[in-house]
Amino acid sequence: MTTNENLIKSADRVKDHGEVFTPKWIVDKMIDQPEIAAKVRSLTATFLEPSAGEGAFLTEILDRKIRYAAEKSKNAHEFGNYALMVLSTLYGIELLEDNVEMLVMNMKDTFSDVYRELMYDLFQTEPDQKVYDSAKVIIRANMAQGDALKKTDALGRPIIFSEWQPVGKTRVQRTEYTFESIVNGGGPTGTVQEVVEEISLDLFPDEAQEAVDETPARHFTQCKWTDIYKEEIE
Ligand SMILES: C[S@@+](CC[C@H](N)C(=O)[O-])C[C@H]1O[C@@H](n2cnc3c(N)ncnc32)[C@H](O)[C@@H]1O
Repeated sequence: MTTNENLIKSADRVKDHGEVFTPKWIVDKMIDQPEIAAKVRSLTATFLEPSAGEGAFLTEILDRKIRYAAEKSKNAHEFGNYALMVLSTLYGIELLEDNVEMLVMNMKDTFSDVYRELMYDLFQTEPDQKVYDSAKVIIRANMAQGDALKKTDALGRPIIFSEWQPVGKTRVQRTEYTFESIVNGGGPTGTVQEVVEEISLDLFPDEAQEAVDETPARHFTQCKWTDIYKEEIE
């Protein structure tokens, strides 16, 4: 994984996919940039990493955002909601299957470790299993295996992301959009597109984008943050 500074897996992968992971000191320096740091200290500002690798940037942003969520929380229950809220703002796309597996695992581990640590240290309470279960669903939905240029998944279908719209302090409305519609201005908030521009490592030229067919979205019922794991559909 990237944190033990194994930055290259093989010369072929560097040649074929530009796969060189970012060392932690550079990740920290980039996230410390004032305009990025301001969005890290936000419960709702979104980030998309279109070449996420094993999650060098996303895991560090997640760590910092959960700590910010704890600062804003009055009690353990509110912290559970806010921890899920900040997790839901982080999106990743990665081409290679083994990297996506590591990305998902690293996001789950980071979430669990920081959430558990702060529940015990700040709120002197056991972690809530429903928070862990809902976090897993969010991570699966927000970390896509696919081609960020073609905006398609490993099977050639459109990449689909979920918007997690907070409804008051305790509830959320999940809505699915194709990545294509988000990038081309059809998305609900524009924030995902904004962050592609901000944090993209400029690996991918615009002209490589291709149109993809729309896929019908599922309609999720509005629910509590801690009931996301149920994935109830209307
Ligand atoms: C330079 S590495 C950076 C990884 C990570 N962002 C980091 O900083 O450690 C680029 C990553 O982009 C992935 N990649 C290459 N082409 C891609 C594409 N068309 N769509 C999505 N990911 C791609 C590679 O597999 C590789 O993991």
